[in-house]
This record gives sequence, structure tokens and C-alpha cells, in this order.
Amino acid sequence: MSIHRYYTLTLSEKLLYTSFLLLVGLGYLMAVSYLYVTHENNDGKPGLSISDVASSYYGNRSGTRLEAAIRGPMAGYIDDQDRGRIVAWLKDGGEEIHYNSEIKPILAKTCVACHNKEVNPNLPDFTSYAGLHEVSKVDTGMSMASLLRLSHIHLFGISMLLFVIGFIFIQSEVNVWFKRFLVVSPMLAVFVDVASWFLTKWDDHYAIVVIVAGGILGFSMALQILISLYQIWFLKKPDNPDLHPPLK
Ligand code: HEC
Repeated sequence: MSIHRYYTLTLSEKLLYTSFLLLVGLGYLMAVSYLYVTHENNDGKPGLSISDVASSYYGNRSGTRLEAAIRGPMAGYIDDQDRGRIVAWLKDGGEEIHYNSEIKPILAKTCVACHNKEVNPNLPDFTSYAGLHEVSKVDTGMSMASLLRLSHIHLFGISMLLFVIGFIFIQSEVNVWFKRFLVVSPMLAVFVDVASWFLTKWDDHYAIVVIVAGGILGFSMALQILISLYQIWFLKKPDNPDLHPPLK
């Protein structure tokens, strides 16, 4: 397929390009609003922030009742070293594999004297993993399956969109390096964005990368759309087209 210049397009082509770009732009705004309303309260505070992003992928791993108790009302029954071990275990997801070797002996020292269903049926029972799990359920954020589902939908869907938007945009007349940069940057941003979801699931410090990559994606897509829309309708055909450099 050969690439036209905008001023050689028929009116039907211009209308097709324009309505497509407008709908995609609207779709993008909807996507951002959707993200805002669904993630805004992840961290319990209004307004979208880095911690909202972190908690949706990484989870809220310090929000367990167990951690709150050993830092608060139960702090007197545990020394700093043991507290550190329990907190680290919770941060890793609080799974059963390391419970027997690392956590059970700590609880056995003092906690189980009270937290034992025979002695105090009303307290959380720490004689078994199941009993402890009641207060140690860790929110580890989005599951791997959801993350993979979201990633492949994103990669397929957005790359198709960017291909079509880019195909329209390369017919514009702008500095050729700027054009090449703007064609590649949103594709790269999608890749980094998706990769940083996985990184954030592993370590919440990467949440900032999710936001920056998402911002670059939106910004370069918006530039492509706006430049295209403007030139489709307002770029004049030169009087002598031979004087014009070939489109790159
Ligand atoms: C002397 C008895 C006693 C010991 C020892 C004890 N606890 Fe408790 N624990 C209690 C009582 C009573 C409550 C309920 C009242 C409260 O929440 O303060 C409780 C409540 C809790 C809760 C529930 C908090 C909630 O969210 O409802 C957790 C978790 C907990 N303890 C953990 C521990 C851990 C871990 C240890 C050992 C380091 C420990 N406790 C040692 C008496 C004890």
C-alpha cells in the first residue's frame, strides 16, 4: 500500500481517518477515566496516586491484623528480631511453606499461651496455620492470571490501535526524526508499561514506572492524533508539488 499525502486524500478518506481518530481519542479519555474511578480508592484515600497503583499490583502487604497487633497491642509479647521475621514473612505473602520452620516457633514462645482455643476460645487460635491465617491474610495484589490476561489484551489491542493511528500519522509532514520518534515511542511505552506491572507485583517501587510509561503512551498518542487531524484538514497542497521533498 502506498502512502499518500493528506492533500491527495479523497473526502471519504479524510472523513474515515477523522472519525476514527476522534473515536480513538474519546476511547482513550474513557480508559483514563475508568482507571481513575476504579483505582482511586485502592489505598483508601481519594485521588489517584502512586500508592493506588502499587496496591493494585503489589497489594497492601502491611495491612494484616497480625502486623497491626504485633506493632500495637501485642508488641510487648515479642522482641524486635521476631517481629522483623514475622513482618518479612507477611511481606512475602504469608504462605504456609515457611510457617512451620520460621513462624510457628516464634508464636510458640509466648503467643500460644493465650492464643489457644482451649484457653481462650474467643481469641484467634495460633496453634495451627489455619487459625493464624484468619489474621494473616495478605493482600498480594492482582493475581498472576489476571495480570497475564490484562497484559495480552493490552499488548494485542493497543499495538493494533497504535499501528492504525501511526499509519495515518506517517502521512503527515513533520521533521522526519520527530516522526520516527513519535511512531516508536508509544509502542515502547506500552511494552515498558506492561513489563512494569510485573515488576510492581514483585516490588512496589516500580509503580512510578507504570505511571511514567502510561503518561508517555498517552502523550505520544495524543500528539499523533492531533497533528494528523490538523494536517488532514488544514495542510495546503503546495503550488508546485515537485518542490516538495518526498515524504519520509
Ligand atoms: C497474655 C495473653 C496474650 C498473649 C501472650 C498474646 N496475646 Fe494477642 N491477644 C490477646 C487478647 C486478650 C486479645 C484480644 C483483645 C485485643 O485485641 O487487645 C488479643 C488479640 C490479638 C490479635 C487480634 C487483633 C485483632 O485484629 O483482632 C492478634 C493478631 C494477636 N493478638 C496476636 C498476638 C501475637 C502475635 C502474640 C505473640 C507475640 C500475642 N498476640 C500474644 C492476648 C494475648
